[in-house]
Amino acid sequence: MQAVSTDLISEILELKRSRNAVILAHNYQIAAIQEVADFVGDSLGLSRQAAETDADVIAFCGVHFMGETAKILSPSKTVVIPDRDAGCSLSDSCPADKLAAYLEEHCDKKYYVIAYINCSAGVKALADVIVTSGNAVKIVESAPKDRNILFVPDQNLGAWVMEKTGRQMDLWRGNCYVHVEFTRDSIHRIKTEFPAAVVVAHPECTLAVRLLADEVCSTEKMVSYCRDNPAKDFIIVTESGMLHRLRREVPNKNFIPGPTDSCACADCRYMKMNTLEKLRDCLANLEPRIEIPEDVRAKAEYSVRRMLELSK
Ligand code: 13P
Ligand code: SF4
Repeated sequence: MQAVSTDLISEILELKRSRNAVILAHNYQIAAIQEVADFVGDSLGLSRQAAETDADVIAFCGVHFMGETAKILSPSKTVVIPDRDAGCSLSDSCPADKLAAYLEEHCDKKYYVIAYINCSAGVKALADVIVTSGNAVKIVESAPKDRNILFVPDQNLGAWVMEKTGRQMDLWRGNCYVHVEFTRDSIHRIKTEFPAAVVVAHPECTLAVRLLADEVCSTEKMVSYCRDNPAKDFIIVTESGMLHRLRREVPNKNFIPGPTDSCACADCRYMKMNTLEKLRDCLANLEPRIEIPEDVRAKAEYSVRRMLELSK
């Protein structure tokens, strides 16, 4: 971890106090942001925190759709994000207008729409229920048996959920540009180098990569899985920020980043747009701020709250 200015940390903590703010950070954030955050977790844990906080301001260190989810759940709070351009290739692969047109075109199917949380508020507003990688299996299992399911936007996560549940779903053809960079060859190579290591992969990876994994799970589940597994060495096939979280929480084990064909580890360029300086600035200026039209927010809240209910 790079040396971090203690003045900058003090400034952030002072702003947090004076604004009555809470700092939420996703597991893929840089180490320095994870260290200053009040809560670090996966999309499900962060949604719960956003729904329950009594802070006036939520500073959300993640990507845009995560800040939106916080605003959907806590509309009276000011939600700020360090960088407005921190988007998500997966969310971008399913624009709300395209989904609306698709549903119109296939209205005979009377789809029950299940949306992975990595999507815009507009897509959440069109969905019947939201899922994260941590609760998708459970929620799909509870979906009405007499309805056709359309799962958006991640085809890899959707395919993994179909394998786990045996439920047939029509899949939107989106993917995460980071997780599809792991390949069968790149994971084979690292397995050859560390033959005793246990391979843990995120379900956004392709089938070819998931087949090489000992465990496929959400980022939060990776922490408990690695803690409880007797193995010493783990190859972590997801975004690089996860390695910091794991090393902090499970210090007695060895975590090896899953490589891609061209890099020793995989960084999400959007997650990595956030810096401590930008976090300080968003707390100081209360900008960039998340705003969502109320009709869209209210519809999206329905599907997000249904997720929270079903994953209790
Ligand atoms: P998790 O919910 O497992 O943290 O995943 C979020 C994400 O963006 C994965 O790319
Ligand atoms: Fe989106 Fe992939 Fe980045 Fe997650 S890792 S925020 S899915 S682009």
